[in-house]
Amino acid sequence: MGAELTVAVVGPAGLVGRELLELLEQRQFPAGSIRLLGTLRTAGAEVELAGRKEKIALLTPQAFDGVELAFFAAGPSVAGEHAPRAAAAGTAVIDLSSRFRLDPEVPLVVPEVNVGKLGDWRERGIIASPSSTATALGVVLGPLAAKVGLRRVVVSTYQGVASAGRRAMGALSRETVDLLNARGVRRPGRFPRRIAFNCVPQVGALEPGGSTTHELLVVEEVRRLLDLPGLGMSVTAVRVPIFFGAAFCVNLETESPLAAAEAAVLLREAPGILLEDESGGGYPTPVEVAGSDAIHVGRVRDDASAEPPGLTLWIALDTMRKGAALNVVQIAEILARDHL
Ligand SMILES: NC(=O)c1ccc[n+]([C@@H]2O[C@H](COP(=O)([O-])OP(=O)(O)OC[C@H]3O[C@@H](n4cnc5c(N)ncnc54)[C@H](OP(=O)(O)O)[C@@H]3O)[C@@H](O)[C@H]2O)c1
Repeated sequence: MGAELTVAVVGPAGLVGRELLELLEQRQFPAGSIRLLGTLRTAGAEVELAGRKEKIALLTPQAFDGVELAFFAAGPSVAGEHAPRAAAAGTAVIDLSSRFRLDPEVPLVVPEVNVGKLGDWRERGIIASPSSTATALGVVLGPLAAKVGLRRVVVSTYQGVASAGRRAMGALSRETVDLLNARGVRRPGRFPRRIAFNCVPQVGALEPGGSTTHELLVVEEVRRLLDLPGLGMSVTAVRVPIFFGAAFCVNLETESPLAAAEAAVLLREAPGILLEDESGGGYPTPVEVAGSDAIHVGRVRDDASAEPPGLTLWIALDTMRKGAALNVVQIAEILARDHL
């Protein structure tokens, strides 16, 4: 890569889009210009970019002319419609949506886990970034799988509303204010049940068999990331009334035994992980890790109920950072350095 790149961001006014623009600036990504592409709702609105005001333009098929690298942060239908056309015209596309995550011709990449897969990006011109849940699990499970093998993984995740986008944040605010004003929830609807002061064990649509689309997708994404197509895995995702971040409880059965103390050493040295497991029981929470680039891990302990003895651990992350915007910026940095 020599010169600065012409970059596009689709969905710049969304939660992930805004974080992405901030990170491109903070990390001094080599962008000569950044084209902001949105809907009729936001086209014409101004966004502050590196101290300048830039206008959002309407996303059209021609909007990618001359664009070398495009980030798609606008959902699966927008990606399905525009990403292949942009890629066919020579734009390298990095998509955050679920649209291409299981497409065998599109690499699904978390640099700490499978950076080698980036080499396949030219096949379709598109790279997919996993859900925040699969990203965090990939970063944490990757080093354990490499060391002792994984037999079975059981995950319960507690997800804030930001992982459902900007409108979901508004829904939690409204419901909370309504209830605190003794008005009752006037307009439920964004979530399957009331979310304020509640826990809802449904993220995504319920599928036959009882799992949700999100839970099933996470399993497949983690298997793809770790290149373990036969990994036994079960996920339960719970929506909780926090705005940002997510936390997970993970139970693991490994192929060969690994004591908690050894696992802690491994995780402390692994890239992208911050271990908060000092003696005395340190652990991270979503509030405390807001704004952090790392996947935070704590409460690493032996699980004697598994055979051979397994592990239980706790994870917290800022889903906007490594779970979304940071992962795609890291991918873009490697593309810009080695591939474009
Ligand atoms: N939130 C997370 O934690 C997270 C984590 C990993 C991946 N992701 C993925 O990242 C993507 C964005 O998520 P988000 O949380 O930022 O959602 P969001 O806050 O709802 O923002 C969605 C953005 O998409 C834009 N958009 C929708 N339809 C469009 C169209 N037809 N043309 C152009 N722009 C369009 C919207 O534009 P306007 O502003 O113009 O309406 C908005 O800016 C989704 O695919 C999501 O699955 C999110």
